[in-house]
Amino acid sequence: MEPTPDVIRHFHPVLPSRSLGKQPVRVEVAGRAYVLFRDAADRPAALLDACPHRFAPLSKGRVRPDGRLECPYHGWRFDSEGRGANPAQPELRHCDTRSFQVVERYGYLWLAERDTPLSAFPDMGGDGYVFGGAFSTLFEAPLHVALDNFSEDEHTPYVHTRLGWDDPHAHVVEFEARNLEDRTEVSYRAPQRPAALMKVLGVRNGDIFHNNWVMRFDPVRGQYTVSWAAPTGELRPFITQANIFFVPETARTTRLHSFSFLKCTVPAMRPLLSVAARAAAALTWWEVRDDSRFIPTVADTPYSHKGMRLDRFDKPLVHQRRLMERIYYRMGADAAPVPLAREAAGG
Ligand code: FES
Ligand SMILES: [Fe+2]
Repeated sequence: MEPTPDVIRHFHPVLPSRSLGKQPVRVEVAGRAYVLFRDAADRPAALLDACPHRFAPLSKGRVRPDGRLECPYHGWRFDSEGRGANPAQPELRHCDTRSFQVVERYGYLWLAERDTPLSAFPDMGGDGYVFGGAFSTLFEAPLHVALDNFSEDEHTPYVHTRLGWDDPHAHVVEFEARNLEDRTEVSYRAPQRPAALMKVLGVRNGDIFHNNWVMRFDPVRGQYTVSWAAPTGELRPFITQANIFFVPETARTTRLHSFSFLKCTVPAMRPLLSVAARAAAALTWWEVRDDSRFIPTVADTPYSHKGMRLDRFDKPLVHQRRLMERIYYRMGADAAPVPLAREAAGG
């Protein structure tokens, strides 16, 4: 299936803000290239990265002192609204290019079409969560492979080495999944294997690992809430929330942008929260890196699940293909609406 550029009507994180200085930067979303640059007031701006003249990449050009982006080929220049001028034929009309909305949040630049309302910006944090940091990871696999990998925890003992359970406990995992009209909701409970890094978050040997997540498609993103409890059921003080955005770049690569949050349920420990939030972000970084190292191994997995012997942990996968097609890619938007069962694959 060919990705469509139309996805940019959703807000996508594309670049850490600090990575955009004086030089323009090219980013790709769903097979289309955009150029980011800062205008004279240092405000981030985005245009299509193909000059309307003869399609040279504007990202290879430079920002002029007046804040306009100059094409490296014949010097046409564009302001942050995409209004273009041709220095060699000033009277030439229709030299404009398409511009996009850039929003700076959580240390990242987020790209969307001009008319996408800010109210469509994805919700993160909230409810006492403190932002601990964000990072980007390249996955050398198509979007559907990266998404499926983050839609089950069955691979935890084999692909990961810290978070979650180990192979001898694979059969005691408690699992629930709900396929809903606009999202999937999944939860796992299993013994946490001993892992040094997690002691920073007050996790002890013998604790139970809890992972509850929601996968949405506006854009493709998972919100993972991870916590630990003592065998008695008593919750440990820190609860992590990782928001992972799956941004397709080319047909073969996906960039994951992860935004890590942490909250503390024990008031006396709250002074530690900002340090612990950074530790939680580091922990998330290790886990996502484990996935990124493994993912080239399964990069050629077909888009369709046809013929696969799916097990109970795969319950969200097929439903999520449909949600991704309908909500993210807006495929079949002109066709008659198909009524979706509230719980398409059972409760
Ligand atoms: S291709 Fe950009 S000015 Fe000619
Ligand atoms: Fe994983």
